[in-house]
Amino acid sequence: MKTVNVAVIGAGWFGDVHSECFLRAQSMLQGVKIKLHTVVDIYEPAAIKCKEKYGFEYYTTDWHEVIDNPEIDLVDVCTDNKFHREMSIAAIEKGKHVFCEKPLADTVKDAVDMTEAAEKAGITNMVDFHYRKIPALAQLHDLIQAGELGRIYHIKGMFLQDFGFDSPMTWRFKKALSGGGSIVTMGSHVIDAARYLVGEIDEVCSTGKTFIEKRTDPNTGKEDSCDVDDAMTVLLKFKNGAIGMLMTSWLCHGCRHHHELEVYGEKGSAKFNSERLNELELWLDDPKSPLNGKKTVLIGRDNPYGDLFNLKTGMGVGVKESITIQMRDMVEGIVAGKAQTPSFYDGMMAVKVTSAIIKAADTHTWVKVPE
Ligand SMILES: NC(=O)c1ccc[n+]([C@@H]2O[C@H](COP(=O)([O-])OP(=O)(O)OC[C@H]3O[C@@H](n4cnc5c(N)ncnc54)[C@H](O)[C@@H]3O)[C@@H](O)[C@H]2O)c1
Repeated sequence: MKTVNVAVIGAGWFGDVHSECFLRAQSMLQGVKIKLHTVVDIYEPAAIKCKEKYGFEYYTTDWHEVIDNPEIDLVDVCTDNKFHREMSIAAIEKGKHVFCEKPLADTVKDAVDMTEAAEKAGITNMVDFHYRKIPALAQLHDLIQAGELGRIYHIKGMFLQDFGFDSPMTWRFKKALSGGGSIVTMGSHVIDAARYLVGEIDEVCSTGKTFIEKRTDPNTGKEDSCDVDDAMTVLLKFKNGAIGMLMTSWLCHGCRHHHELEVYGEKGSAKFNSERLNELELWLDDPKSPLNGKKTVLIGRDNPYGDLFNLKTGMGVGVKESITIQMRDMVEGIVAGKAQTPSFYDGMMAVKVTSAIIKAADTHTWVKVPE
C-alpha cells in the first residue's frame, strides 16, 4: 500500500482544520494511507498541540526541515498569506506536491510564479476554494453546465461577516502581510465561485473603504493603523457577456458567515447561502413543467459528493466535509499522477481578479483582469 506523508505548515486555525480533514479523508481512500508526518509552527506550543491532537509523528518550528526531508510527499501551506509563495516554491523545487491556502499569493507576480513552477514540475497542486466541493454549489454548477438555467445573464455574490467589529490587530489588517482586506479574505471565495459557475471575469470597477482605521495590537497593547478595505463593492463584466455585482465586508451585524450567490439565467435562477449550506433555491421558468416556479431543494445523498459521508438527506454536510473532499482529491491526484481542481491556476486567477478590484478602487476606473 502506498503511503502519502503529509507535512502541515502553520498550526493555527486552518492548519488545525486541515489536519482533521486529512484524517477524515482516509475513510474515502482505498489502497493509499495518509500519514500525518510533521506539523510545523514558529510558535512551538501550537505545533505541539496540533501534533498531540491529530497524532502527527513529529513537530518542528522550522519549515525548511520538512522541505528538506525526502520522506515528505505533500506539503500543506496554512500560514499567513505572505509566506505562501516562498514555502510553496521551495516545496515544488524539491518535487513535493503542494496544497496551499487561499489567497494563493499576495501579488499577481507571486501567484503566476507559483503556478508556473507547479505546472512545470508536474506536481499535484490545489488551493483551498472548498465551496466548489459543497454539494449544493456543485449541483448548481452541474445544472448550469447542463443548460438548465440557459444563458447566464447576472450573478450577485456577497460574503459578509461581523468579526471586524471587535477583532484586535492581526496580519489580516495589514496589506503587506495579507495582500488586501475583505476582498482578499472573503472575496476570493466569491470570485472563485463566480468563475466556477459563470466563467472568466474580464473587467471590474469597484469602491472600497476602511471604516475602522486603528486596532490594538494584542502583543504591544498599542494602537496600529489598518491599511486594507473593511468593505468592498464591485461591478463585474464576464468574458461571456454576463454581468455581476459583488460585495464583501467584515462589518455586517447579523452576518456570521454569509456567503450568498444568486445566479440569473434566461431559463431560470438559483440562490445559495452558506448559512443554509444544504439548500438550493431554484426557479425554473418552464410553464409546461409541474415544477415551474420557485422551490427550495434539500440537497443530500443524491447530489454531487452527497453519498461520501454516509449521511441521509437532511442530516447535512458542513464546511469541514468540503475540505475533507479536497484532501481526498489531493491524495488521489498524487497517487494517480493527475491534476485536480481547484488548482494553483484557479488560485492565480482569483489573485488576478482581486488585484484588479483593488486597483480599480484606487484609480476609480474600470480595470481589465490580466490574461
Ligand atoms: N479557505 C478558507 O476558507 C480559509 C479560512 C481561514 C483561513 N484561511 C487561510 O489560511 C491561512 C492561515 O489562516 P489562519 O486563520 O489559520 O491564521 P492563523 O493566524 O490562525 O494561523 C497561522 C499560523 O501560521 C503560523 N506561522 C506563521 N508564520 C510561520 C512560519 N514562518 N513558519 C511556520 N509557521 C508559521 C502562525 O504561528 C500561526 O499559528 C491564511 O492564508 C488564510 O487566508 C483560509
